[in-house]
Amino acid sequence: MDQRTITIQYESHPDETTISSEDRRLLDVAREATSLAYAPYSRFRVGAAARLTDQRIVRGSNQENASYPAGICAERVLLATLSSIGTDAHITVMAISYVGEGLGNDKPLAPCGVCRQVMAEYEERTGAPFRLILAGLNGEVQIFQSASSLLPFRFSGSELPQ
Ligand code: THU
Repeated sequence: MDQRTITIQYESHPDETTISSEDRRLLDVAREATSLAYAPYSRFRVGAAARLTDQRIVRGSNQENASYPAGICAERVLLATLSSIGTDAHITVMAISYVGEGLGNDKPLAPCGVCRQVMAEYEERTGAPFRLILAGLNGEVQIFQSASSLLPFRFSGSELPQ
């Protein structure tokens, strides 16, 4: 029997003043995108913004439904939007933020497991890892070098019959 350990490396910035101005701008777009969320049920508005290889920025926000499971997270709205646009450009970095009613908003948001799975497969199919910037409206900013690093044991299409 082997005991194995997985290490996840990420940058933790006490606030946004030590991240690059480009990353800060993207984080601001993610924060702005929270205003486009449709979240009457959770009152937890999530915004995501991705910079593409051609420098365009694509946004997403969570879209809920009275049939709760029909709701879609901001990250997957963004990725579906990108696929719908139809472009050869791919994501180099994605910022995710949120506004939660009555919450402090000073902690980074940890993307849900389903979104981690979908982001990881996006990286796999484009062959290009993208950085993830996670932050609330203020306080700590976390930066991960790839979305897959958040989901080390993920299910992959390579496990399905070829
Ligand atoms: N949500 C996201 O949009 N992204 C995440 O990574 C976590 C959760 C949304 C789903 C739902 O609309 C609300 O936040 C509360 O779970």
